[in-house]
Amino acid sequence: MAKLWAGRFQKEIDLVVNDFNSSIRFDCRLYKEDIAGSIAHANMLGKQGIIEGHEAEKIVEGLKAILSDIEGGKIEFSPDYEDIHMNIEQLLTERIGDTGKRLHTGRSRNDQVALDMRLYVKKEINEIISLILKFMTALCKKSRENLETVMPGYTHLQRAQPTTFAHYMMAYANMLKRDVSRLTDCLKRMDDMPLGSGALASTTYPIDRDFVREQLGFQRLTDNSLDGVSDRDYCVELCSDLSILMMHLSRLSEEIISWCSWEFKFIELDDAYSTGSSIMPQKKNPDVCELIRGKTGRVYGSLTTMLSMLKGLPLAYNKDMQEDKEAVFDAIDTVKQCLEVFIPMFSTISLCKDNMRKAAAKGFLNATDCADYLTKKGMPFRDAYKIVGSLVNECIKSDKTLESLTLEDFRAISESFGPDIYDALDLNTCVQERKVLGGPAPKEVERQINVIEAFIKSEVESHDEA
Ligand code: ARG
Repeated sequence: MAKLWAGRFQKEIDLVVNDFNSSIRFDCRLYKEDIAGSIAHANMLGKQGIIEGHEAEKIVEGLKAILSDIEGGKIEFSPDYEDIHMNIEQLLTERIGDTGKRLHTGRSRNDQVALDMRLYVKKEINEIISLILKFMTALCKKSRENLETVMPGYTHLQRAQPTTFAHYMMAYANMLKRDVSRLTDCLKRMDDMPLGSGALASTTYPIDRDFVREQLGFQRLTDNSLDGVSDRDYCVELCSDLSILMMHLSRLSEEIISWCSWEFKFIELDDAYSTGSSIMPQKKNPDVCELIRGKTGRVYGSLTTMLSMLKGLPLAYNKDMQEDKEAVFDAIDTVKQCLEVFIPMFSTISLCKDNMRKAAAKGFLNATDCADYLTKKGMPFRDAYKIVGSLVNECIKSDKTLESLTLEDFRAISESFGPDIYDALDLNTCVQERKVLGGPAPKEVERQINVIEAFIKSEVESHDEA
């Protein structure tokens, strides 16, 4: 079968190389972007008189028919035409004859693939952002329902201070808010249209790049043709942003895995989002969370692939760059899949509030509050800290909690203790009194939820406009 470049060659390509070189099996997903780019390019060639107006029209019609046939499942791509760009060009020429051969005037596959990838990544970033916003909405809803659900907060995985489930979940909402802003930032920075860069040194035809830019909805033009064809920074940024997002999902997954163990039993997963064991009849496993934790490594892999693939490349295009696709596509697919399953899984979690509260009541989570009580009575914090330390020590020996000590016990160690110590040690008080901006007091967490909900609303609006 004759290649597009047959003129220069005396021999047919080796079959193994043919397959090795071919990217159609994965870049076929760029068909829509490729056709959109070609339509814009053909319209521009016609408008500039580089090809005849009727030729441009014929090309555009041919491309539209190919698009609808691809979507109707009527087209089978061939590895003999290497990639999506040449497959479509070949199809066009088969269908409309010699006019089809004029489409590639003033263009190279190098700026063509650069354009296709940008169009595709832009579309996918928007979809991922909407999924994150949905997840944030689910976090806000669960938080509103659990403003007063007291649970232990940890440091070093040791019970530390009381907090609420709402406060805990809003920590994750804040991480996701940063993920949205990172992706939005990536989207803004990558909004440059590369077509017109040609193979590397642009073209001698009197093309109108700005006309193409406008048709394809980019904000700006790439400003240097060498950079235009060889820039994949946005792919690195995307993989990096997605890695951070996955790291967040993975941390929450890890918490959920712990919380639904018998050791914690803070939550129960819905049956529809857990799995059983083939041998142990009692088991109910958090496979979804474990898979998300596992797939995080896979997305980090894409980032590493991109960074190592690019680090030694001289300007401009090198075939190494074809490797960007599987890495970027896999990162995108994985993230979307994870979010799609995480949202309903999280929304259907039921909380074992009694267990959370019991866990918060043990482990001296109110010890800081006990020391703060003395400090508020005028004692320096370091002295108060020491006194409460020895009280805790006594309690451990006699298997008691601070609040189960008698007033005499308290006063034996410090005269500053009065009957109001019991109120200060109450878990509800401990949470209610932490009303500093950022703290777990229900009113304060309500404010945090309002901030996130306002963010979601403004993001949804700006996406609807775009
Ligand atoms: N399939 C190629 C890629 O994905 C398209 C660009 C090919 N350009 C070239 N000069 N071989 O990178």
